[in-house]
Amino acid sequence: MKLTYSEEELLASHACARPQREAGRLLHGGFDADGRYLPPRLLHRGPAVEAWTERLRARGGDLLPADASLLAGIRFPSGAQQKLLIQEGLGQTFWNILTVTGHIEARGRILADLEFPEFQPWLHEDVSEMAVGHLNRGLLKAHGIDEGGEPQRGIGGHDVMWFALRDLAFGEVDYPEPEVPENIARPDAEAAPFPELPGAIVRSVYFLANLLLIEFRAERGFAFSQRMLRDPELFPERRAQAERAAEIVDRIRRDEELHVDSLRLYLGELSSLDFRTQDGGRLAGRRVVNALWNGIVHWATVEQPRLVAERTRELLHARIAAHPEATRVRAAFDALAENA
Ligand SMILES: [Fe+2]
Ligand SMILES: [Fe+2]
Repeated sequence: MKLTYSEEELLASHACARPQREAGRLLHGGFDADGRYLPPRLLHRGPAVEAWTERLRARGGDLLPADASLLAGIRFPSGAQQKLLIQEGLGQTFWNILTVTGHIEARGRILADLEFPEFQPWLHEDVSEMAVGHLNRGLLKAHGIDEGGEPQRGIGGHDVMWFALRDLAFGEVDYPEPEVPENIARPDAEAAPFPELPGAIVRSVYFLANLLLIEFRAERGFAFSQRMLRDPELFPERRAQAERAAEIVDRIRRDEELHVDSLRLYLGELSSLDFRTQDGGRLAGRRVVNALWNGIVHWATVEQPRLVAERTRELLHARIAAHPEATRVRAAFDALAENA
């Protein structure tokens, strides 16, 4: 089983019979001779993640046990509310969601340029045959390019895929570019637990855990957008284009599967290892990963959704207030809220 890879290998893509081109934009990945979508940079990265996962399990470890369902819960706006807004001519809300999603994906490109600290000097075990030994050897770079593309080569990543699918569904509109909200910062994110480890190492584990949570949140948002695009009552003039837009979301979701699998793998590997502390002691990786992950999950499932809902509610109410029949639409909107 091959367990070490060069950066070049981890960035290599399958040969495609046809590139991915949508709404006049060249996008990453492509299609095989049978028309099946091939995500980018998976030629070796896919088998590598499988091999490392198998090896981790053989050592008695496993992927971090978590999936997007931990973010299940009330959604604001609900699917029914979002649908009402589109039907009442307030589709700008959904157009903004698609646009903002693209811009947030673009931020992920930072992974391609980031210099991550090496975990190896701070771990007891040799990680040269593990995924965490390859983070700076192509894994984070490939992930970042998936998100933000290769603008210098004119190839769009997830960012441009969202803009392309938005334009397919909506056609030409003259909505202004929405403001892309800053991330709502977590108040205790700067706190440094585990003073026995270098801050940069703890921050890096935190960064990976936080990234996994962001992928989960994205996954739920993508499923939501797809439901809107596939709703037979929405985009009545542009059904075919909206269906095609939903297909592009499918491709993005295919790409993201590897991101989730990889991040669960990195955190699973770290959980199975022992850190070397600054005073020469040992600290179980599991304790570090669990403490950081549990903190993030609490923030993301309890505190953060409330803050986001407040911000969104204000925005949507203002938009409805500008509707010529604001009172009627507002009453209908409120009646479609999901109840706790
Ligand atoms: Fe993405
Ligand atoms: Fe991703």
